Amino acid sequence: MDIKRSFVKQLLQSTEFNKPVNVKGWVRTKRDNKQIAFVAINDGSTINNIQVVIDMTSFDENKFKLITTGSSLSVTGTLVQSMGKGQTVEIQAKEVEIYGTADPETYPLQKKGHTLEFLREIAHLRFRTNTFGAIFRIRHAMAFAIHKYFNDHGFYYLHTPIVTGSDAEGAGEMFHVTTLDMHKLPKSEDGKIDFSQDFFGRETNLTVSGQLEAELGATALSNVYTFGPTFRAENSNTPRHLAEFWMIEPEMAFYDITDDMDLAEDFLKYLISYALENCKDDLEFLNNMYDKELIERLNFVVNNKFERIDYTDAINILTQSDQKFEYPVKWGSDLQSEHERYLVEKYYKKPVMVTNYPKEIKAFYMKQNEDGKTVRAMDVLFPRIGEIIGGSQREEVYDKLVTRIKEMGIPEKEMWWYLETRKFGTVPHSGFGLGFERLILFVTGMLNIRDVIPFPRTPKNAEF
Ligand code: 4AD
Ligand code: MG
Repeated sequence: MDIKRSFVKQLLQSTEFNKPVNVKGWVRTKRDNKQIAFVAINDGSTINNIQVVIDMTSFDENKFKLITTGSSLSVTGTLVQSMGKGQTVEIQAKEVEIYGTADPETYPLQKKGHTLEFLREIAHLRFRTNTFGAIFRIRHAMAFAIHKYFNDHGFYYLHTPIVTGSDAEGAGEMFHVTTLDMHKLPKSEDGKIDFSQDFFGRETNLTVSGQLEAELGATALSNVYTFGPTFRAENSNTPRHLAEFWMIEPEMAFYDITDDMDLAEDFLKYLISYALENCKDDLEFLNNMYDKELIERLNFVVNNKFERIDYTDAINILTQSDQKFEYPVKWGSDLQSEHERYLVEKYYKKPVMVTNYPKEIKAFYMKQNEDGKTVRAMDVLFPRIGEIIGGSQREEVYDKLVTRIKEMGIPEKEMWWYLETRKFGTVPHSGFGLGFERLILFVTGMLNIRDVIPFPRTPKNAEF
């Protein structure tokens, strides 16, 4: 008899007892004696396992040896109420099919706990642990919630290019994209590489941000967002930096910096509430295993208004504190992670949004303030993370934008398409970028960004 496969999650919630069911998954643990065996199966649908009970008096002993931790099974049997502790239902097995066994001598995920560092080395198998099952289910839920939030708020999902000829942030830390032969690079007369012979007939890179293209969309569709991979070739070996990370970038016409901050706060609170409501089992597991204050912290962020301060206030608070910082604090220099975390964790004890940064430390496209010194940037700083969002109101006045581009030595000619939005029907507009992995770090309570993306790309590391 062919019985439709059920997910473990469905069966654990089912009260349709004494009916035939089928479950497929991987063995987590096995306990047995001569009469009876208990096999815990997980299929990724939930952090919880379903217990399969096997009558050993009629089960082939050699076949039973193949049912090892990590092996894959299809079990058909009867769903019954469980008398055992810790579960409400179990399956009385009638038929067990083994897809693949896992040799206990070599399968690296035996019962004992493993360090997160070790699991990074076996990233191809770490999905099978409770921890990474929980993290990647939460990551999925957050991606879904992001699309839902924007769809419900009248935003269009815009696919901006991954290969680009522009350097959005003027940062110059990009990965080249080329089909030129590295051993025989064509040179022009002045000795420089002749990119006109390259695939796109010009120099191209992997994008660091979809913002500039999102701005083009926003000046017609009003509210758009991008959600895609971005790439930064900076040599930052920290627990919060990846060379390949995912970014969510909404861009809104007719929004000023206050509208931008209101959206950022509402958006973050929505996402965290969504996780609290929809990822309960996984969050409780992570709370118990790694971070006893996780759920409390998530609730706190949802229920408290973010502090909004000026960069200048931030500098004053930092210079007046008796905390010793590794990096000096002075007006004009960028806030380091230690400064951001002092403001959030020690001073305000809640998320902080900082605005009006010195123009020298921010990108060319940010709206210039009357004072001639600061721009309408806004960063959202979170406990344990530091900067989770970076955004701004954009400079919509053509002349001011061109002046700034010239001052910063950005090739004006290459920006012609961007500048035309300021020539034809320009509007005030704003946007921000949320680092997806930093959000997942915060929501899961993990401490290293390598543990919240399936296959991390960091300096000297692109295995798997
Ligand atoms: O502050 P950033 O560089 O801003 C932008 O790229 C703008 N174009 C966004 C916009 O206004 N549309 O990056 C935005 C966010 C940061 O706040 C951080 O959360 C994340 O992206 N981020 C990184 N996450 C992981 N690894 C890295 N190397 C990151 N660099 C930035
Ligand atoms: Mg930033």
